[in-house]
Amino acid sequence: MSKTVLVSGGAGFIGSHVTVELSQAGYDVVIADNMSNCDETNYKGVCAILGKTLPLIKMDFCDEAAVKALFAKYRFDALIHFAAFKAVGESVAEPLMYYKNNLDSFLNILQAAREHGTNVLFSSSATVYGEPDETPVTEQSPRKPATSPYGNTKQMCEDFLRDCVAAYGMHGIALCYFNPIGAHPSALIGELPRGVPNNLVPFITQTAIGKRECLSIFGNDYPTPDGTCLRDYIDIVDLAKAHVCAVTRMVEGKMDEPYEIFNIGTGRPVSVLELVNSFQKVNALKLNYRFAPRREGDVTAVWADPSLAEKKLGWKATRTVEETLASAWAWEKRLAGK
Ligand code: WQD
Repeated sequence: MSKTVLVSGGAGFIGSHVTVELSQAGYDVVIADNMSNCDETNYKGVCAILGKTLPLIKMDFCDEAAVKALFAKYRFDALIHFAAFKAVGESVAEPLMYYKNNLDSFLNILQAAREHGTNVLFSSSATVYGEPDETPVTEQSPRKPATSPYGNTKQMCEDFLRDCVAAYGMHGIALCYFNPIGAHPSALIGELPRGVPNNLVPFITQTAIGKRECLSIFGNDYPTPDGTCLRDYIDIVDLAKAHVCAVTRMVEGKMDEPYEIFNIGTGRPVSVLELVNSFQKVNALKLNYRFAPRREGDVTAVWADPSLAEKKLGWKATRTVEETLASAWAWEKRLAGK
């Protein structure tokens, strides 16, 4: 009998890619999303890639009664929680909105998971490590005080899960993503930022397509080889596959500890300038960019030590940054109808 996985926020960027990989690995997937930050483009793309229609429940996880009803209708072997607000700057301006949405929704999910014995995978972020004292960052690296309410909600939700696992005999995994980029090779699903993108790669692709005039590279005076920040850019399909490994580890009862954390990255630091140059080269185009002052809150350098994920999950990033940047460009062109 195949296992059923709930994907909250499954119509979004990461959730849609994870849904595809889970489904292709033989899991039945139920998507639940309040569609507050997306339309049905990615949901339709998921169904087109898979050649079948998956259930899409339009609901808000802050609505406790709706969460109860969902768990009464389906029997989930595991759930993956993506449904959350995720804009760092917006969270600084609207902390209450972020705390209410991101914490209430997860508390409702944990309550339901406790009652139904559901394994929980939480979508966390390298933002919990802040400006690390040492790179690469391991799972043992100390978490730094959060620099935004968004980052704080990620830390708090990790703690909620850890405490619930300890108290209620549940099982949970937190995956800490570094910088997810790119799109599915089919170009049928990808990132759909609302308004002006905050993140680097959507800003690059929108500049290349002509939607934005010029990319600002925030800071070229950092203490790094070329003066621009270093990050660990992880391909979205590679990242999605890590979720399949983690879900399988939980549902097959293969965890070493009932609560585990894994860093999901490539282990390869890439500077902003290197990324821009790779994008130009692999897609044979010229990008309009200029150097601008540093962006407040940016850390100089952060990249993962992904060896624990390789050892325990049997997962490893496989795509080159060039392949990933080609997929991001193919997606942007498809959106523009080119
Ligand atoms: C990457 C690099 C910028 C835009 C954030 C969140 C993190 C996670 C992912 C998720 C930095 C530079 C960017 C631009 C630039 N959140 N940059 N010009 O800040 O590493 O991580 O997104 O939902 O929690 O903090 O990612 O893509 O914004 O920036 O020069 O127009 O690109 O300064 O060095 P970041 P990013």
